[in-house]
Amino acid sequence: MKDVYLLNLVYAISAALDYVSPAINGHHRRVGIVAAAMGRHMGFDRADVTDLFMAGLMHDIGAFTRDMSIDGLDFDVHLTAHATVGSRLLGGHPLLERAAYFVKHHHTQWKHLAGAEDRKEAILCNVVNLADRVDILRWRGESGHDRQTIRNMVADYSEDYYTSEVTEAFASFSEDADFWKLVEDKDSDLRSLFKDWTQDRLIPKDQLLGFSVFFAHIIDFRSSHTATHSQGVAETAVQLAILAGMDEEEQKKMRLAGNLHDIGKLAVSSWLLDKPSGLDVSEYEAIKAHATVGEILLRSVPGLSDVTDWACQHHERLNGKGYPHGLSADELSLGSRIMQVADVHTAITEDRPYRKGMSTEKTCKVLRSMADNGFLDADIVDLAIDNHIQINAVRRLAQNRAAAAFKLFAEQPDQWSSSMVNLNMFEG
Ligand SMILES: [Fe+2]
Ligand SMILES: [Fe+2]
Ligand SMILES: [Fe+2]
Repeated sequence: MKDVYLLNLVYAISAALDYVSPAINGHHRRVGIVAAAMGRHMGFDRADVTDLFMAGLMHDIGAFTRDMSIDGLDFDVHLTAHATVGSRLLGGHPLLERAAYFVKHHHTQWKHLAGAEDRKEAILCNVVNLADRVDILRWRGESGHDRQTIRNMVADYSEDYYTSEVTEAFASFSEDADFWKLVEDKDSDLRSLFKDWTQDRLIPKDQLLGFSVFFAHIIDFRSSHTATHSQGVAETAVQLAILAGMDEEEQKKMRLAGNLHDIGKLAVSSWLLDKPSGLDVSEYEAIKAHATVGEILLRSVPGLSDVTDWACQHHERLNGKGYPHGLSADELSLGSRIMQVADVHTAITEDRPYRKGMSTEKTCKVLRSMADNGFLDADIVDLAIDNHIQINAVRRLAQNRAAAAFKLFAEQPDQWSSSMVNLNMFEG
C-alpha cells in the first residue's frame, strides 16, 4: 500500500458532504476555503491554517445524522446539536482533534468564547464561524446577498457575535476581488490551491487501518440502520480472504476496503437510510448512487490502489447485473468478488432495528441461490457456507464492538473520544 495523506481523505469526506444537499452545493468546500484564506490573511501558521481548512471542509458533518438536515439552509435549528455531534465524530482521532474543537464551536458566539483560556483557539473557532456565516449570507434567500451587502452585514455584527479581530480581517480581505474569485471558482483544485499554506499529515501505515475504522464510524453512525454495517463487512471480508489464501498484506487491504466500501452513503440523506422498506424507484436510485459517489471519492484519494476497486465494486455482480457499471465476471478480481459476498452476507445476517438477521439455514440458501444464478462467485460462496459459523461469529463480534462504540457515541460522548484512541491502537 502506498502512503495516504490526511488532507486527501478530508477532501473526499468534504466532497461527499457537498453531494448530500444540492441546495447548498459546495458549502463545505467554500467554508473550508474562506476559513483557510482568512487564517492565512490573519498571519496564522501552516498548522493553524490546515486545521481551519479541515474544520471548514467538514464543519456540518454532524448535520447529516438522523433527524437533522441542512436542506433549505435552516441552520438556526439544531445549531448546537449538529456542532456537538460533528465534533464528536471528528474528535475520535488525534489528528483531527483540533479541527473537531473548531467544529464544536462553529456556531458559538464570541461572547461565550471571549473568556476562554486559550484566546488563540477561541479566535480560530470564530474564524470558522464567520466563514460559515459568509457562505450562508451569500446563498440565503432567492438570489442571496451581493458581496457589498455581505461586507456591510459582517461589519455590523457586534462583538457579541464576532471579535473585531475577525471581522476586521474579513473587511480588509474581502475588499479584494481575488478573494471572491478564490471562493467562487468551482473548478479550482483544492490540493494546489492550498499547497503552500497547509501542512499535510501523512497517515502512518500502521495507523491507516485504525483510521479506516474511524471513517467507518463516520459513514455508519448517521443511521442506526447502518451503525455497524461497515465493520461487519470488513471482518467478514477478512475471514473470506484468509480462507481464499490471501496473504497478510492483502487481508489488511481487505479490511480497509470493507471499512470504506459504503463511503458514498455519506451522500445519501439519512431519512432514506432510515427507511426500512417500500422504497420507490427514485428513492432506490438515490440509494444506488452511493456506489457511484463512493467510486468518485475513493478514486480521488491517491495511494489506495486496489482497495478502491474492491470497495467500489461491492454491488457489481458476475452476471453483469450489478451496479454502478454492470461489470462482467472477467472484469472482477478475487478481492472484488470477496467484497460482494461479504456485503451480502453481512446485510442479511446482521440485525437491523426493524428486523432480525437471517438464520444460518436461510443465509446459506440465499447465498447459494445467488451463486447458482450467476450473481456471486460460487467458490467464495462455498467458502462462506462451509465456514458460516466461524465467519458469523467473527462478524457478530465486530458488529457488537461497533454497536458498543455507537452507544458510547450516542449516550456518553465524554468517553467517546478516548475510547476511539484505544480502539485505533488496538486496530493498528
Ligand atoms: Fe453549521
Ligand atoms: Fe455550515
Ligand atoms: Fe453498499
